[in-house]
Amino acid sequence: MNPTYFPIDRFRNESTPLYYYDLHLLEETLRELKTSSFPGFNTHYAVKANSNPEILKLIAASGLGADTVSLGEIQAALSAGFPAAKIVFAGVGKTDQEITAALELNIGCLNVESDAELTAIAEIAEKLDKKAPVALRINPEIDAHTHHYITTGLAENKFGIALSMLDRLIDHCLSSEWLDFKGLHFHIGSQITDLEPYRILCERINSLQEKYPDILIPSINVGGGLGVDYENPEGNPIPDFKSYFRIFKDNLRLRPGQELHFELGRSIVAQCGSLICKVVYVKEGVGKKFVILDGGMTALIRPALYQAHHKIENITSKSEVKEKYDVVGPICESSDVFGTDETLPVTKRGDIIAIRSAGAYGEVMASAYNCRALPSSLFSR
Ligand code: LLP
Repeated sequence: MNPTYFPIDRFRNESTPLYYYDLHLLEETLRELKTSSFPGFNTHYAVKANSNPEILKLIAASGLGADTVSLGEIQAALSAGFPAAKIVFAGVGKTDQEITAALELNIGCLNVESDAELTAIAEIAEKLDKKAPVALRINPEIDAHTHHYITTGLAENKFGIALSMLDRLIDHCLSSEWLDFKGLHFHIGSQITDLEPYRILCERINSLQEKYPDILIPSINVGGGLGVDYENPEGNPIPDFKSYFRIFKDNLRLRPGQELHFELGRSIVAQCGSLICKVVYVKEGVGKKFVILDGGMTALIRPALYQAHHKIENITSKSEVKEKYDVVGPICESSDVFGTDETLPVTKRGDIIAIRSAGAYGEVMASAYNCRALPSSLFSR
């Protein structure tokens, strides 16, 4: 680790756990995303990954659109400066209140996940005397080879419309005077590090488009899911957007004038965030030592929920001697473990620990379980 990367003195004066965000890295990531993209490619930031207002503002200012899944996220995106027309609204359980608000706010598109939802949207649009912009989210039945909790493109998942039902739903869109058919939406999962599933997705989309030669499909949305390197955040601080976009450029046959949309979350924000905790105790167990932190699964749930591993660093120990520790939180749950047999320099009470790559699905998933305060946030400038 670069010894000056973290503002350790600032951390000492703050109460922990806290999320530290390197906004310079976020800006560089956004720049790289832009330069790797191709004309006609539109990227939306998946707000669910991190809705911290500072982060949202910076991303909105870079010109991306927003992918949202609740009225709360739509409002957060609007407050941060994302234009309504560049906001898409997805999710399997949009309520009447959310649909009404989305239409009144003139957001760009509702990504629809079922026939029942399409019917509800058309009814609400009629009441408002407005045409609802809709895209159909299709379940492409592609295995993205990721953790089963974050795979979304398989037939067994609750997400998307089965390919076998698509004809009927397209008819529904085209025959309703209250629906404005915007296109097709896909998302195959998250933390995808092998690009092959995306190539398969392109083929799947190509054959679908061939099946509907006479239907106007203004846009294709391929979702998000590009993964990051959790084991080596310093070596790979910015994901390989070039290869990712290139897959679509080379394999997807877009129709003339057809727009292509992406919804990236993790790949934009994961590496700029770290969860900063202090060591409360070093406990001698039977045959092992535990480093007990002041933050645990309520601050960062990914290890407990998905067996995810984030790189753990002691950023204050000056010791040359390394030891093995189980690094755990203070929560009353056995799954409250960040790492077992972690090799760290000799660690003491009061040391500061950084849990890396925590910018995505970290702060947003924090809870107040055990009546713990939610983590605060601190920025690099
Ligand atoms: N679009 C849709 C329709 C999605 O469901 C998701 C994520 C995204 C885009 C953004 O995916 P990303 O580029 O961030 O992979 N909490 C889990 C991840 C859940 C992802 C849910 N959907 C985790 O911590 O790994």
